[in-house]
Amino acid sequence: MMEYLTLNTGAKMPLEGFGVFQIPDATQCEQVVYNAIKTGYRLIDTAAAYMNEEAVGKAVARAVADGLVKREDLFVTTKVWVQDMRNEETAYSAVKSSLAKLSLEYLDLILLHQPMGDYFAAYRGLEKAYDEGLTKAIGVSNFYPAILANFCENVRTIPAVNQVELHPYFSQADALENMKAYGVAPQAWGPLAEGKHGIFTDSEIAAVGEKYGKSNAQVVLRWNTQRGVSIIPKSVKTERMEQNIDIWDFTLTDEEMEIIGSKDLGHSEIIDHSSPAFVKALNGMKVHS
Ligand SMILES: NC(=O)c1ccc[n+]([C@@H]2O[C@H](COP(=O)([O-])OP(=O)(O)OC[C@H]3O[C@@H](n4cnc5c(N)ncnc54)[C@H](OP(=O)(O)O)[C@@H]3O)[C@@H](O)[C@H]2O)c1
Repeated sequence: MMEYLTLNTGAKMPLEGFGVFQIPDATQCEQVVYNAIKTGYRLIDTAAAYMNEEAVGKAVARAVADGLVKREDLFVTTKVWVQDMRNEETAYSAVKSSLAKLSLEYLDLILLHQPMGDYFAAYRGLEKAYDEGLTKAIGVSNFYPAILANFCENVRTIPAVNQVELHPYFSQADALENMKAYGVAPQAWGPLAEGKHGIFTDSEIAAVGEKYGKSNAQVVLRWNTQRGVSIIPKSVKTERMEQNIDIWDFTLTDEEMEIIGSKDLGHSEIIDHSSPAFVKALNGMKVHS
């Protein structure tokens, strides 16, 4: 049975959703998202930068038309890319562009994808969209603790969500404390560490899973939700989608939570937000003409 968390807007967000990063083929993405909704996922996480908002929109429309779900029971998240984080107007236009591509009247959540560009000005564009009801909530992504603290100290609307990399090998306990202090809900991207670190075969995680008849993927997803973190695992395979959402019938003990948490390396091995070259590359990445 899916669990929910309450955002600082009062809205309920499913604790688990479905991510669609790296599904660039439109036909495949549409079918995968449709399958995910059929499997029981109610939160879909896309982004302008994933180049698949239209496919997600088609899948949502088909699922609603087929009676699988009502629009109001779905939680659709997208993100504004750095290219459109130049000022209030460009960010506001990006919200409208995402709505058009998704063929939706409103978004449930829209995030600034990176703490780059003029993110304060861009956020004012999101606040405008929020005030006008184009989105039910606004938030940020990849805002590391000091950046998030400074942001929360200076904006009118505290972000509802901060989506950051969170998995056993980069558990970011300090970041979670900081988000809690500001009332920002944490959401994990890469909750399966994008398959790195031998996560699916780690023998200690497997030993925990054996007790409950659960896979490594299920154990690490459960671990994040048990510490109050929303998760958005991605898989193009229906069997894995089913497996990844089947995590609500067991509870890890404190000791097991610690075994999983002890894997923390204290840094990401996926991306390096402190690298000037990385920041420069993302500032140069265009998602539209
Ligand atoms: N805000 C950001 O900057 C940011 C960055 C990255 C990601 N995200 C979001 O977070 C979502 C999730 O992160 P992610 O897609 O990067 O990585 P992830 O969910 O941690 O891992 C996905 C990988 O694990 C495989 N997988 C999934 N379930 C599995 C299972 N049960 N057993 C074995 N392998 C499994 C998938 O392969 P198959 O598909 O072949 O099954 C895929 O290669 C994204 O889709 C996106 O929505 C956001």
